[in-house]
Amino acid sequence: MCPTKGINTAGHLPTDTRLWPLKRYTEMHRRSLDDPEKFWAEEARKLDWYQTWERVLDWDPPYARWFVGGRLNASFQCADRHVKTWRKSKVAIYWEGEAGETRVLSYSTLFRAVNRFASVLKKLGVSKGDKVALYLPMVPELPVFMLACARIGAVHTVIFSGFSAQSIADRVNDIQAKVIVTADGGYRRGKIIPLKEITDEAVKLSPSVEKVIVVKRTGEKVPWTEGKDAWLSSLLDDAESLVTPEPMESNHPLYILYTSGTTGKPKGIVHSTGGYLVYNHSAYQWVFDIKEESVFWCTADVGWVTGHSSIVYAPLSHGAAIVLYEGAPDYPTLDRWWDIIEKYGVTIFYTSPTAVRMFMRSGEKWLQKHDLSSLELLGSVGEPINPEAWQWYYKHIGKEKCPIVDTWWQTETGGIMISPTPGIEAIPLKPGSATFPLPGIDASVVDTNGKELPTGQTGYLIIKKPWPGMLLDIYGNPGRYRRAYWSRYPNSYYTGDFAMRDEDGYFWLLGRADEVLNVAGHRIGTAELEDAAISHPAVAETAVASKPDEIKGEAIVLFVTLKEGELPSPTLKKEISQHLRKVIGPIATPDEIYFVESMPKTRSGKIMRRVLKAVASGQSLGDLTTLENEASVEEVKRAYEKLKGTKSTPKEA
Ligand code: WTA
Repeated sequence: MCPTKGINTAGHLPTDTRLWPLKRYTEMHRRSLDDPEKFWAEEARKLDWYQTWERVLDWDPPYARWFVGGRLNASFQCADRHVKTWRKSKVAIYWEGEAGETRVLSYSTLFRAVNRFASVLKKLGVSKGDKVALYLPMVPELPVFMLACARIGAVHTVIFSGFSAQSIADRVNDIQAKVIVTADGGYRRGKIIPLKEITDEAVKLSPSVEKVIVVKRTGEKVPWTEGKDAWLSSLLDDAESLVTPEPMESNHPLYILYTSGTTGKPKGIVHSTGGYLVYNHSAYQWVFDIKEESVFWCTADVGWVTGHSSIVYAPLSHGAAIVLYEGAPDYPTLDRWWDIIEKYGVTIFYTSPTAVRMFMRSGEKWLQKHDLSSLELLGSVGEPINPEAWQWYYKHIGKEKCPIVDTWWQTETGGIMISPTPGIEAIPLKPGSATFPLPGIDASVVDTNGKELPTGQTGYLIIKKPWPGMLLDIYGNPGRYRRAYWSRYPNSYYTGDFAMRDEDGYFWLLGRADEVLNVAGHRIGTAELEDAAISHPAVAETAVASKPDEIKGEAIVLFVTLKEGELPSPTLKKEISQHLRKVIGPIATPDEIYFVESMPKTRSGKIMRRVLKAVASGQSLGDLTTLENEASVEEVKRAYEKLKGTKSTPKEA
């Protein structure tokens, strides 16, 4: 490895060539792959187990089962173990409401709340293995309910509060949830999102739901169904103050979280209890170098995997103090986040490239009023961070003294997989590279045949060994699990991402290789969008592509052909856009809708996505030599010219 070439020269870690070669990291990574079972058994001993495992790993591809026979409880790791120590009076959660209210939960308050919420669930008849859906805004009750479910062995599914009634119903029906927890509303940019009304609509489509628990947040009057709905506050009146945690077998599911794939239906990713917790506990230490006095703020929503692992399970299992912020980053003004960092003395700040780019665009003036000197470490997640945004983040937020950990991972991986690991050793950084795989992670960049590619060449990222955070399955669909992750490369996990290794061995993550878009760090499948758009009565056919977006990374572009007799108009465009928001949620809002006469297709009827992408992004078709068998070069060119000519933006008559 070359110590200086291509390395960031902004002034901090990167120019310090004494760091090379990487001794501790290299030794640990090698040791972890030479004897994974020994390595992970040592890591697992950092948690509290009721019963030790019989075997570290059962690997029956494509299923890995970790710490088989071991028993533990996730809420015990995140609450009970801390209240037995001085940490009982340590801050667990600093909550900041959008309007500026503060609630501070110590570990003992958290412990009490988790017990009482668990009692509420139990009294409603929820027991081990039952499914509970959580459709809540970013309030402390959300992590508390997650831990309460874990305490009694119920499996939670958190549904992002930006999703529509239909999206809730799809998820709830898939898992047959018994109980759904929501609120009387949530705040977003000063407005109230009517979560209870949306939940009611979903419940009409979800016969499995017996009870709707409502958290009071806004105090708004909400529609009420006697017998089915119950205020959390009234249920708490009868709650016990202690509920014994259920000792869960390591491979019992902790939660199911839905994410987009290449077909219309989102997949329910199932995570285990033991493997997931062990992996996240260790990865969090390696990546964030967490210290007792750290104040950790991850700005993701708890509704995504980043929130599950990096707001709830990993930090709380360490007894860390976290910040949980309810509202929008730019509300009421663009310095809201900087104000929060100053107010709580945040030391580790973890956010998305989209957010960094948004702040970069709004200029440094918003930073000037605030003292950000508490910051020690910055993180990035969810999408590739472009070097320009990286440099801005490093200079203006980190003041050139905070390393940036660019963390690559997925809902399926459970925890961070490729990232600098300052908790092991300072790794010289390169802006835009997530650097190296974590211990235990055997990552490789391969061609379509599975052959490892030489440095500098772009290929597919695969993981060649199971790791404890790996998903257990896709809920109710083992066939899809095999197909999506294990059919391309035998016994290796296919990530669906493009990657490249450079001459120093650094990994560069280059975006999705499948038909999944990444809009502002949120995964959304083109098929999911197409299924939703086609359900609009005027739409005959539809196809989705993306175009590069300066802030969001990618933006959605929808191509539509209309049914006979329907005329393109700006009103119809708005209607289709509204329809997508209604079916999926605001994250599905297209940036552009083009009405076209026909879709570019191959003779076998496959949509030529490359043509769509080129037209959507206003770019040329690029290199056509790697066309594979989509269609002939001439056909693709013809289709491209035709589509370019017919996309229309009509004026209202
Ligand atoms: C992308 C989010 C580049 C990637 C934790 C992956 C990234 C998808 C990075 C997973 C990163 C995530 N650099 N790309 N640091 N982190 N991605 O499931 O395409 O919401 O496959 O999990 O986000 O998105 P998901």
